[in-house]
Amino acid sequence: MTKGRPVPDYATLAKTIQSLTEGEDDTVALMATVTCEVHHSDDRFDWTGFYRVTGPEMLKIGPYQGGHGCLQIPFARGVCGAAARTGQVQLVADVDAFPGHIACASSTRSELVLPVKNAAGDLIAVFDIDSDQPDAFSQGDADALSAILRDVFMRP
Ligand code: SME
Repeated sequence: MTKGRPVPDYATLAKTIQSLTEGEDDTVALMATVTCEVHHSDDRFDWTGFYRVTGPEMLKIGPYQGGHGCLQIPFARGVCGAAARTGQVQLVADVDAFPGHIACASSTRSELVLPVKNAAGDLIAVFDIDSDQPDAFSQGDADALSAILRDVFMRP
């Protein structure tokens, strides 16, 4: 459970996203819908969105909700870059303790960044959720959101 705060009902969220996106294969349409549904599912989520792989070692902003997001993030930089570089989920309890964290918003205290792959297994993006609460995210959040991303973006 997540720090005594209400967590989204991930089973319902997954079903909602599944039904809204069924039959859709346009990546931007899928990213926009996932971002909207996830962002509004929990007050912990202050900034929610995708950074897309657009070139060698380069991420660019995709659909998002929240305040202004940086337009470009090289793989070498920040929490998003670390997720893209390593292919591993980045669960960061304290962004100030993360070397190279990119502060798009100074209110951000903790982050969860998940790699996003397509059906071929290629990295197409990372999904970034930021919170103004310290230590806002749990492994449970990471697991549930990873499953949603797999369902939507790895569809055959
Ligand atoms: N949190 C990111 C930067 C992007 S934003 O916060 C919207 C990072 O350090 O990778």
